[in-house]
Amino acid sequence: MIQPKQDKKLWGGRFAEATDGLVELFNASVGFDQRLAEQDIRGSLAHVAMLGQAGILTAEEVAQIQEGLQGVLADIRAGTFEWRLDREDVHMNVEAALRDRIGPVAGKLHTARSRNDQVAVDFRLFTKEAALDLAAKTRVLRAVMVAEAEKHLTSAGGEAVILPGYTHLQVAQPILLSHWFMAYAAMLERDEGRFRDAAERMDESPLGSSALAGTPWPIDRHATAAALGFARPTANSLDGVGSRDFALEFLSACAILAAHLSRLSEELILYSTFEFGFLTLPDSHTTGSSIMPQKKNPDVSELARGKAGRVFGNLMGLLTVVKGTPLAYNKDLQEDKEGVFDSYDTLSTVLRLYADMLPKTAWHAAATKAAAARGFSTATDLADFLARAGVPFREAHEVVGGLVGLASRTGRQLWDLTDEEVRAAHPLLTAEVTRSLTVEESVKARQSYGGTAPERVREQVEAAKAALP
Ligand code: ARG
Repeated sequence: MIQPKQDKKLWGGRFAEATDGLVELFNASVGFDQRLAEQDIRGSLAHVAMLGQAGILTAEEVAQIQEGLQGVLADIRAGTFEWRLDREDVHMNVEAALRDRIGPVAGKLHTARSRNDQVAVDFRLFTKEAALDLAAKTRVLRAVMVAEAEKHLTSAGGEAVILPGYTHLQVAQPILLSHWFMAYAAMLERDEGRFRDAAERMDESPLGSSALAGTPWPIDRHATAAALGFARPTANSLDGVGSRDFALEFLSACAILAAHLSRLSEELILYSTFEFGFLTLPDSHTTGSSIMPQKKNPDVSELARGKAGRVFGNLMGLLTVVKGTPLAYNKDLQEDKEGVFDSYDTLSTVLRLYADMLPKTAWHAAATKAAAARGFSTATDLADFLARAGVPFREAHEVVGGLVGLASRTGRQLWDLTDEEVRAAHPLLTAEVTRSLTVEESVKARQSYGGTAPERVREQVEAAKAALP
């Protein structure tokens, strides 16, 4: 891309000396903002059509410019376009190429427009599309979570798959694996909503804000906004060219989604270890070690967890860029794009990988159930038994805590305690009672709305399926 040539700058009127080479390199954004070429040309086509309708350009000038822009677009799509560093950014590359093609009439395209509103409109178009695309991909993964939840409502043995539920990563209470999947489905539903909300709020066209103050030309901003598929034009020209909160909101929705995917990743990494043995990741989505033949590493999940770092960084980066800039446009704002591209690309890939990987992941129902039974996970059920018999819950908690202490000191589970030991703790208790506290019963008992009982989880699954096409 680095070209020795340097033609006269489109802004070169007042300059006598050529731009320093390193400055040119430092200043240029074409290396990354060429990704906005489609949006840039769409914006120019809408602008020039409006200039014609407003009587600012003649029909013939409009036709020449439109045809020229289509030619430039065709070159870009064909990969034959010559991107030039000395032409600084996507906007001036396109405009200069247009001039190379159709001559001086190309210069009329920039009437009543500035690169400030041009870049703002290009970048909004891109970010809006990216937000809607990530919303759609998040929805696909959510549908996968719901399908997995439904699948694990019946295991090989006919019963729903049971998983230990944790708090503090200490076994807490048994839950259904389907309940766990639906928890992620709920997070992803909100993530999708955040992208859609952001897309709606950024659905305003800054085109026609011009440099910062608007323009004396009789332009029609409503017409260009409508032509570009925006709901309306931005209401204030300073805000239109100077604000980047639409990108911040996108990056923030990305960061929250990345945090959710990172938590999921952490669980999958942990549960796939030999020590947990809850699941086996598919060969297609794991890697081996060049020295240790037995290894099967959860690289996809580790990278998904690791990449949350850069996605958070992109948000922090742009917040920091924006915070010290006076209104309206400052060149600092050129730093707004790479983070958005990067978060978009990163999450697009991670969402697709997980949508492919999760259905191919094998869960080991016997291992998860056995783990769910360990760690005194039904102690709360025993306390509830006493409380149902009229014992105040705090007292019941104390009694069961004593039994857990006894069992754990003597290397046993609650159901291993003798009848005498149990009765000594409380006269209402028998060994039969402690033995009846299975993980299945524990799960079935949690009938409260949103709880882990199979009927409640099935309701969550059915509601989610009805909401997903
Ligand atoms: N490449 C610039 C950017 O991305 C375009 C806007 C330039 N405007 C200006 N006044 N120098 O922000």
